[in-house]
Amino acid sequence: MHDLYAEEIIDHYRYPRNKGSMEKPDLVYHDSNPFCGDEVTIMLKVEDGRVVDVKWQGHGCTISQASASMLSEEIKGKTLEELRHWGKEEVLDLLGIPLGPVRIKCALLPLKALKAAAWGITTWPHEEEEEEGKGTV
Ligand code: FES
Repeated sequence: MHDLYAEEIIDHYRYPRNKGSMEKPDLVYHDSNPFCGDEVTIMLKVEDGRVVDVKWQGHGCTISQASASMLSEEIKGKTLEELRHWGKEEVLDLLGIPLGPVRIKCALLPLKALKAAAWGITTWPHEEEEEEGKGTV
């Protein structure tokens, strides 16, 4: 059973869906994993509080990039309010394989970017503190 999910993950990594750039996105957020440098940027077009188009860009490990691709397929048609409340479970359901703590961080990088975009923030509050040298890291 896990082999099927693993194949799906590799397929999304090799042939990422909705990857590319968007002219004048309504919402955009770029995030990275400071431990490995992997990056994901999520761009959303929104009408009446609902996502009508999504693009993403990034580079990194198989899990982070496949997770971004899989999430991008689920986003269209969802309201920003719905996306703000998505959590780990939605991403792990999409990936369909058990992940250890390090790999979970990979899987959640695109979700973190998506949620920040949906909230319309430019920096996660605790990361502002880290940039100012006050964080505990
Ligand atoms: Fe960097 Fe996976 S190793 S996000």
